[in-house]
Amino acid sequence: VARVPLIAGNWKLNLDHLQAIAFVQKLDWTLKDARHEYGISGSEVAVFPPFTDLRSVQNLVAADKLSIVFGGQDLSEHDSGAFTGEISGAFLKALDCTYVIIGHSERRTLHSETDEQLGRKVVAALKHGLVPVLCVGETAEDLEIHGPSAVPVAQLRAALAGVSGTPNLVVAYEPVWAIGSGQAATAEQAEQVAATLRATLAELLGEEVADATRILYGGSVKSTNIAGFMRQPNVDGALVGGASLDVTEFASIARFQ
Ligand code: G3H
Repeated sequence: VARVPLIAGNWKLNLDHLQAIAFVQKLDWTLKDARHEYGISGSEVAVFPPFTDLRSVQNLVAADKLSIVFGGQDLSEHDSGAFTGEISGAFLKALDCTYVIIGHSERRTLHSETDEQLGRKVVAALKHGLVPVLCVGETAEDLEIHGPSAVPVAQLRAALAGVSGTPNLVVAYEPVWAIGSGQAATAEQAEQVAATLRATLAELLGEEVADATRILYGGSVKSTNIAGFMRQPNVDGALVGGASLDVTEFASIARFQ
């Protein structure tokens, strides 16, 4: 199966709605120039702005017919009700979000999100027609104690416990030790874990889903290391944090060839 590469920028808590408009406009021009200059097409480019930016990004993408897609950085497991501060999958879908990030390590650590809760979020996202970008990854300590794949695989199994059929999913392998550290995993390390995650998907949801699911690598991705990751057969793109906040750098990552 030919999987369309996905280059996704997770802005985290950066860029307000006015900065988001300027950023997305400039990103679109830069990508168009790059596509024209290098004759490149093919990879899907997504941004994950803060919730308060999404309406502005939606308007811009619709008005100018941009080929950039977008999503939320999290969602509630609930649809509506007395859940102060939460945002539901229905609300994200109503803003034309394609994707939603679930289980980023910062949510797991700073907001104590559990595997069980993340499983409910995956179910909620799919129910509302959003594609979950499910993040899994081990800490440096996990790596030392359990080896490279044990924790990501256990997190994947837990998050998919309530899922059946042929869901449209993206899995992002993000070693916690590589996030924001400047010390990315090697392409070979990323491939090894991605291959194990794909085998786990095949076991849980069948070969067809495993073949169709894009597995991203995240953690200190830059324009200078993206090509190595993209050469790996089981790595289908990147979830980029810090480097996604610089238009020129992010656009270079998106034209990784
Ligand atoms: O969601 C993105 C990851 O946390 C990676 O962040 O590219 O700044 O290491 P980073």
